[in-house]
Amino acid sequence: MAGPERITLAMTGASGAQYGLRLLDCLVREDREVHFLISKAAQLVMATETDVSLPAKPQAMQAFLTEYTGATDGQIRVYGKEDWMAPVASGSGAPSAMVVVPCSTGTLSSIATGACNNLIERAADVALKERRQLIVVPREAPYSSIHLEHMLKLSNLGVTILPASPGFYHQPQTVDDLVDFIVARILNCLNIPQDMLPRWGEHHLNSGDD
Ligand SMILES: Cc1cc2nc3c(=O)[nH]c(=O)nc-3n(C[C@H](O)[C@H](O)[C@H](O)COP(=O)(O)O)c2cc1C
Repeated sequence: MAGPERITLAMTGASGAQYGLRLLDCLVREDREVHFLISKAAQLVMATETDVSLPAKPQAMQAFLTEYTGATDGQIRVYGKEDWMAPVASGSGAPSAMVVVPCSTGTLSSIATGACNNLIERAADVALKERRQLIVVPREAPYSSIHLEHMLKLSNLGVTILPASPGFYHQPQTVDDLVDFIVARILNCLNIPQDMLPRWGEHHLNSGDD
């Protein structure tokens, strides 16, 4: 299997809940085990931006997301914000890759300063200390120098800063096409197969054009 078998997916309260939901769907279809974390603010954003009514409690949320994505039992594991006994809270149990999508500037700041005030921040801190793959997908406009400093700090620590800024060269027709652009980029970084967006040059090679 290409890419990590187990992945931590954290959703925080920046705009773009669709990115997180779509990534979850793709990871399930690619048979990955997903350790799912979501902040209170992200739940509010999801209710604002989508038709998905996510239950508040982790156990009910897990059952809901399992059905919503068609995952197998146990494929999606949901943990509460202070569940310090969760595998993601320790280097010995955490998956080898973590994606924070969307990533609020608040959580970006907490990760950059090692705050560890909730399980999302702790899981990211574990990824950093263990030098594991960490991808953050921030969204804000415009960015302040504080946001940019945090991104530079994390980038220098090996974190992938993948801004939620879709390109338009694939001629998107729908909002889903824009969402898929970012999710495909995340999957490429994880080395997980995706067929939503051809890699640069692939279309040219396959088209037979000169
Ligand atoms: C509808 C909505 C949209 C928001 N959009 C953004 C955003 O795009 N970027 C951002 O950094 N914060 C955004 N926020 C503010 C964050 O949710 C807020 O700062 C929150 O404290 C982040 O908490 P968290 O990092 O624990 O999720 C938004 C909030 C709401 C309710």
